[in-house]
Amino acid sequence: MEIDIKPNQRKSIHGQWSSKIVFIFAATGSAVGLGNIWKFPWMTSEYGGGAFVLIYILSVILIALPIMIAEVLIGRHGKQNPVGSLKYLSNKSSTFDVTEIDSDLQRIQTKSKKYSNADDYTNWQLVGWSGMIAGILILSFYSVIAGWTMSYIFKAISGAFSGITVEDSKSMFDTFVGDPEKLLGWHTIFMILTCFIVSKGVKGGLEKSVKILIPGLFLLLISLAFYTYTLSGFYDGLAYMFIPDISKIDGNVILGAMGMAFFSLSIGMGSLMIYGSYLSDESSITNVTAVVAFADTFVAILAGVIIFPIVFTYNLDPSTAGPGLIFQTLPIAFGAMPGGIIIATVFFILLFFAAITSSISLIEPAITYMIEKHSISRPEASAKLGFLTWLLGIGTILSFSYAADLKLFGFTFFDLLDNFTSKVMLPLGGLLIAIFAGFIVKHNIIFDELNISNFKFIFWKSLVRYVAPIAVTLIFVNGLL
Ligand code: PFF
Repeated sequence: MEIDIKPNQRKSIHGQWSSKIVFIFAATGSAVGLGNIWKFPWMTSEYGGGAFVLIYILSVILIALPIMIAEVLIGRHGKQNPVGSLKYLSNKSSTFDVTEIDSDLQRIQTKSKKYSNADDYTNWQLVGWSGMIAGILILSFYSVIAGWTMSYIFKAISGAFSGITVEDSKSMFDTFVGDPEKLLGWHTIFMILTCFIVSKGVKGGLEKSVKILIPGLFLLLISLAFYTYTLSGFYDGLAYMFIPDISKIDGNVILGAMGMAFFSLSIGMGSLMIYGSYLSDESSITNVTAVVAFADTFVAILAGVIIFPIVFTYNLDPSTAGPGLIFQTLPIAFGAMPGGIIIATVFFILLFFAAITSSISLIEPAITYMIEKHSISRPEASAKLGFLTWLLGIGTILSFSYAADLKLFGFTFFDLLDNFTSKVMLPLGGLLIAIFAGFIVKHNIIFDELNISNFKFIFWKSLVRYVAPIAVTLIFVNGLL
C-alpha cells in the first residue's frame, strides 16, 4: 500500500460514528464499567482509602489523560486496527514531511520510495499486539465478574436482599462464587451476548444502547448517593475516601493507583485507538477525551461515595472483602431501603449494561485485526475470539473454588491475570504509546490531528514526552521492587 498523501480523506472500513456525541458515549461506555463500580471501591479499600484516591486522581490527570489523547489520535489518523495504525503512522513518520506535499508531487513520490511503505514491518506494531492480548486476558475475567452482576439481577428481583443481615449477605456471596457451575453458566451467557453484539458491528448495537445506558447509570448512581447521605456512616465513609493518610503511600499503592487509572480509562491496549479510528476528522480530540476522562472519574468517585458510607454504617471491614466488596455491601443497603427491590434490580441491570459496553471494547481491537488481516467475516472473528476468551475464563471461575489454593507467586489465577494486566501490560502499553506519540510520530501529523493552540500543544507534548514516560517508568520499577 502506498502512503496516503492527503491524510484526511481516508475512512475506517468498519464505518464511522454518526457524531462526536456518539463517540463520547461509546468511549464513556468503554471506560465506565465494572472497573468504576466493582474494582475502584475494592482497590480503594485494598490500598487504604484516601491516599489511594489522591494518587488515582493525579494519575488520571497527569499520566492517563495525555496518553488517552495520544491513543485516540493514533487511531484516528491510522484508521485501522491498532497494529495497522501503529505501523501506518510509524512508516508515514519515517517517509516524508507532509508540509512538502503541495509543492512538488513528483518529488514526493520519489522520496517516499527511498524510505518505507505503509505495509513495512515496524517494531511499533508489537504494541498493538500486546494490547490485543491484554484485551482478551482482561475480558476473560471481566466476563466472569459481569456474570456475577447478571446473577445478582435475579437475586434482586426475587427479593433475596429484603432485610438481609451482614452475615447473610456475605454467605450468599461466598456460596455463589464457590459454585463453579453457576459461574460458568453466567460467564457463558455473557460471552455469547458480547460476541453477538460485536458480530453485528460496533455501530449496529452499541450506538443505540449507550445513549440510554450512560444517562440512566448516572441518574441512578446520583440517587443512590443521596440515599447514602441519610446513613449514619456517611461522613465516616467520606472521610475514609477523601482524607489521605500520607503514611500509607508506598510504591505498591502508587502502582496500584496508576494501574487502576489505566484500567478504568480503558487505555494502554488499543481500545481507544479503535474507537478513535471511527471518529470523524472534524471532532476535537482533546475536548472529547477530557469529557470521557471526567465522566469516568466522576462515576468511580460516586461509586465510592455510595459504598463506603454503607461499609461504615454496618461496621464492615473494607480491607477483607476483596473483589466481593460491592456484592456483599450493596445488598445490605438495598435490603434496608424503601423500594429496595426495584432499585436493586435497576442497579444490577445498569451495571450489567455498563459491563457489556466495556467488554465490547475489550475484544474489538482483536476482532478488527482478524477481519483486516485474515479477511474473515465479523461473525467468524467474534466466534473464534469469543471461544478463546471463554476458555480462559474458566481459570478465573475455578480460582474462586477448586483452585483457590493453587497459587503462583502467592496469586490465584484470577489475581495473576488481574495484576499482570493492570499493573504490567496496560502501563507498559501506555508508556510505549506515549513515547511513540511524543518522539516518533511527525510533529505536523500530531499538530493537524489535535488542532489546538500552541500553548496547549506544548503542554500536552511535555506531558506525553516527559512526565508520563518518566512517571510510569519510576512507578513501575519502584512498584515491582
Ligand atoms: N474501563 C473498563 C472498566 O473500567 O470497567 C474496563 C476496560 C475496558 C479496560 C476496555 C480496558 C479496556 F481496554
